[in-house]
Amino acid sequence: MKILGIETSCDETGVCFLEAEGEFGPDFRCNIRGNALATQAAKHAEYGGVFPNLAKREHQKNLVPMLTVALKEAGELKEVREQSIPEKELLELLAQNTDLATFLIPFLKTHVKPDIDAIAVTYGPGLEPALWVGVNFARALSICWNVPVVAVNHMEGHIIVSLMRNESRNEMQAHEVAFPAIALLISGAHTELILMKQFGSYEYLGRTRDDAVGEAFDKVARMLGLPYPGGPHISRLAEQSRCDEVGPHRISLPRPMIDSPNFDFSFAGLKTAVLRITEKENPLSEELKMEIAREFEDAAADVLVSKTLRAAEVHGVHSVIVGGGVSANTHIKAELKNKLEKVGVALFVSPPELSTDNAVMIALAGYFHARRKEFANVASLEANGSLKLSS
Ligand code: KG4
Ligand code: ZN
Repeated sequence: MKILGIETSCDETGVCFLEAEGEFGPDFRCNIRGNALATQAAKHAEYGGVFPNLAKREHQKNLVPMLTVALKEAGELKEVREQSIPEKELLELLAQNTDLATFLIPFLKTHVKPDIDAIAVTYGPGLEPALWVGVNFARALSICWNVPVVAVNHMEGHIIVSLMRNESRNEMQAHEVAFPAIALLISGAHTELILMKQFGSYEYLGRTRDDAVGEAFDKVARMLGLPYPGGPHISRLAEQSRCDEVGPHRISLPRPMIDSPNFDFSFAGLKTAVLRITEKENPLSEELKMEIAREFEDAAADVLVSKTLRAAEVHGVHSVIVGGGVSANTHIKAELKNKLEKVGVALFVSPPELSTDNAVMIALAGYFHARRKEFANVASLEANGSLKLSS
């Protein structure tokens, strides 16, 4: 089955062309034939976070170029002399996305429908104005090409891509996973522990009560004068500090809710504790910045690892799946692996290049729904910024 994947939930515009076969398990195979991603991070950097209307504008500008790149890579970009398309219907549908229409209408008039069986698009959770751009793009393509749409939950995309292993640069197979499993979802907007009883069945165990862990990484990075997104920068400083091992530790940060008898998280207090230090020590020395980065990363990792281990133990699972942008963090991954190995629990993390937002994870999740013919009603499909994995 050939799937076109579309992702616009936050600040990455992703389009991919994925060919897959088999049910989830040893028979599953997939080939990423085309994959295009435009990151807006630099544009949002001056706001210190993602600015929804800027994201909407950038997605409108980037989608058609990303579609062109993905189709070209897949060998599916074929031009024609101007052909007729349902222009009036498309313009009505794209009334709120007129910039997108400006790029899309000429593209559709001059290109043949690619050989695809379904379109998978993120419809939530995320920034609603950004999500709508992708959803309307998918609806327009579906109408013009007469192809069904699968509405994908972004978080399910993060989970499913974590169950994949690379066979070669573009080929992936599924890991053998023993269910039930615990999924730890850590991103710029989410920090959640989920019990996954089987493929596609999710039960929330806990979530953050305030900031998401990625958000805390980004805010602490800003306090240290590091660019957005801050996760990778904090991680680099923390690693440097671990290597240099200079002098005794001068600071210690809290591990909020680490001993609370539930699976919820809280990162606002940890972030505020860093703010207190940075307010007192002005200007910050490079050495202190490194120490803060390390202690912050250690504190975040301690809480995430401890709660995940406890969830695995309480629910007697043998598999832990970690997804979302923060799962790119080397220290958190290493700590989880080390602690889980000791108790005989397997850890599944996405291939590193697919841990932050991308369209491949959306096409993958969409593929499994398309196999079950779980298609959306294109006429009434809506974006849902606060979409959950289960009620
Ligand atoms: O999943 P994602 O790409 O977007 C959302 O759906 O939110 O996650 C982005 C988040 C950002 O907060 C970013 O700082 C964080 O993932 N991140 C990291 C690392 N790489 C990205 N956090 C810690 N360490 C990293 N290496
Ligand atoms: Zn994400």
